[in-house]
Formats: sequence, C-alpha cells, structure tokens
Amino acid sequence: MPLDIDFVRQQFEQLDDDPQFIFASNAGGSYVCKQVNTVMEHYNRHTRVQPYSDFPSSAEAGAAMDRAKQRWAAALNIDLSELTVGPSTSMNTYVMSQAIGDLWTASDEIIVTNQDHEANSGAWRRKAIEKGMTVRQWGVDPETGLLHVEDLIPLLNEKTRWVFFTHCSNVVGTTNPVAQIVRQIKANSSARVFIDAVAYAPHHISDLKALGVDAYAFSLYKVYGPHQGLLYINAAIHPDLTSQAHYFLSGDPAKDFNPAGPQHAQVAACAGVLDYFDALHAHHFDNNDVAEPQKMADIHGLILPYENQLAAPILDFLDHHPDVRLIGKTTTRDNDRAPTIAFKPLKLSSQSLANKLQSAGIGTEHGNFYAHRLVSDLGFDPDDGVVRLSLLHYNRIEDAEKILQELDRSLK
Ligand SMILES: Cc1ncc(COP(=O)(O)O)c(C=O)c1O
Repeated sequence: MPLDIDFVRQQFEQLDDDPQFIFASNAGGSYVCKQVNTVMEHYNRHTRVQPYSDFPSSAEAGAAMDRAKQRWAAALNIDLSELTVGPSTSMNTYVMSQAIGDLWTASDEIIVTNQDHEANSGAWRRKAIEKGMTVRQWGVDPETGLLHVEDLIPLLNEKTRWVFFTHCSNVVGTTNPVAQIVRQIKANSSARVFIDAVAYAPHHISDLKALGVDAYAFSLYKVYGPHQGLLYINAAIHPDLTSQAHYFLSGDPAKDFNPAGPQHAQVAACAGVLDYFDALHAHHFDNNDVAEPQKMADIHGLILPYENQLAAPILDFLDHHPDVRLIGKTTTRDNDRAPTIAFKPLKLSSQSLANKLQSAGIGTEHGNFYAHRLVSDLGFDPDDGVVRLSLLHYNRIEDAEKILQELDRSLK
C-alpha cells in the first residue's frame, strides 16, 4: 500500500490552519504530530510536578519520561544507558566536546567537514584548537557540495581520534552512506565516528548498531516532536569521556552528558513521535507486531518513494534551468536524495526569490542555514546564501506542482 497522504495529513493539526499554504521550510523545524500534543497536554494538565517522587502525579510524570526514553532507545536499537535527551543538538555537541576533549592531547588529530551545520563542526574545532591539536578538513566538491570518501581516507592516520560528519547535509540534501564510510574509517584507523543526523532523521530513524557509529545526534523538533535533542554515545566509550554532571550525579549515563535539568514535559512528549509512527505503521501494514527498528525500516520504505516523487520534478526543473545553480545530487535515482533542495538563482538574489515564493504562499527560506562554511566554500555570499525548499512526507504532490509553477514564474 503506498503512503496514504490523507491519513498522514490528519495527524498534523497545523496543516488545517491554512490548507492553501505550502510549508516548505521543514528542515528548519517540522510541524508537530497530534500524538505529541496529546502527551504534552496530558503532562501539563495532570502531571506538572517534580517527577520521580512517590505521590501519584509525580510517579506518573516519571513513568511518562521513562516511557519516552525507553521507546526511543528501542527505536534506535541502543541501550537506555546510551541515550541522552538534551535541549538541542547544538547543546549536545557542545557538552560532548567538553566530555571528549578533556582527554585529548596536542599530538591527537580530528577530522571535520565543511559540509556540516556548525553544530557538528565549531565545538569540536574549538576544543581541538584549545588543546593544540591538528584539525583536518574533509572538504566537499566545491561545485556540487558532495563529500567523496576517497578524499577522507588520506586524512586518516594513527593520531586521528574522531571523525565528525553528517548523515545528510541540511543544504546539500544528499545522504552520505554512513555505514560504508564508517567501515572504511575503521579499516584505516582506530578513529571514532560522530554523526549529525539532524537533517536525515525526519526522513528515516536509523538502526544505530547497524550503522556502526560511536555517537549520533538529531533533534526531535525536526521529526514532528518537541524541542529536544537525542544523543547516542556507545557505552563502550563512556569510560573515555568525562562526566559533565554535578559531581554527586556523575556515573549516571543519563546525566553525565547533560548538565541541563531535563525538560520534563518535553522529554515525556518525545514518545508521541513514536506513537505517530505506530499509527502510521498500523494504517499501512498488516503485521504490526515487529521490533521497533523493523518498524522504522518499514516506515522508511513507505516514505522514501513518496518523498522521491515530491523531489524528482523540482530537482529536474532546477537542474535544467539556465539561471539556477543546484546544490547536491540532481536526481533521486539512487534513493539518497532528501527533498531538501537548495539552489542559487543566478540572476537575482536568493532573498528576492525567496520573497517572491513567500508572496505566492510558499513558506521557504534563504541564507546559509548555519552551514556557513559550506555556503561560503561553494562560492556564495553567506548572508544572501541559497534558497532552500525542504519538504516532508506530509507535503502533497500538488504542493510540489505549485512550487514548480511558482519557480518558473519567479525565475523569469
Ligand atoms: C544538519 C543540522 N545539524 C545541527 C543542527 C542544530 O540542531 P539544533 O537546532 O537542535 O541545535 C541543525 C539545525 O538546523 C541542522 O540542520
């Protein structure tokens, strides 16, 4: 059964606000599914107390938070002790840079990219520079913005401690083959691998053990959920990280990498995203009695062809337009192209094109999207940047058609 778009759209209440409006800025933050609102509302109405005490509302609050964390650990195929729920990915990477950096020494090296959002670049670079280390950059192809693994291998050596890269850039929109790259890194070094999946997770929740990564981060406010960041750190490397928690809490993996007090209602509401995936699975598949990672894979199988259908005509149009420079892969043929489509109009500013599209009822954006290094290294003014159209599986095929019409009109 193909994706039932009417069913999907019924799960997102904000889509009813203005049915004509086309929301095409999903990579900046998605709409929230109604299952998340249900959990959040229940928490705020009935259990808005300090959790984990023995009186009923407090015990229920703690149980709701535990349910969310247990469900997410199962979905990601990781142990509960390997999951940190923090305020955002930028905060999680910052805290983690303190936790891993304490043991770095001047002879160590790290590898970062210029494809990443700054959240997966600046914190590591700053810590490494503070320690007097060598920072190597795995650079993108300056024309396409794509990363090629052949360029990474020569940067690896016995001093490389970590390699940091993205599962999918929030500007380039092309999925990096993480499992394959991790295998090559491990075959050529003892480096550990950290992946930023913020721009990938809205399209697929991955089985992290299958990917073979050491650490992985993404943000649930881009995955139909509350404003929280999920951070996986493989338990095997916890001994090499210093706790960032209050001294009397250190040794508790849920707190070691999150010195912020947890945002109780938001943590509980993280479960709502998986309640949405349950509903999506139950609607489309006969057998729902499957392990969580299999459920995520089934849902990916449902969403991917639909998102390809959204992206393909827009990519094709932009690729062939003489007044446009399209970033990233130009087709969905390899099933590795998210409908996150960034391009530079060559005859007008990105801002003026974005404004034209906005006036036509298309919620799009322009700029560098905090992938400042990438946008600069592609040769663009990072302030005007690129125009980005980012769609998700709740966008309609008619939305893509309207975008095409308006692009054609606005670029003339
Ligand atoms: C690819 C990517 N990484 C990291 C981040 C930062 O996430 P957060 O806003 O949760 O700090 C973003 C935010 O836009 C992003 O797109």
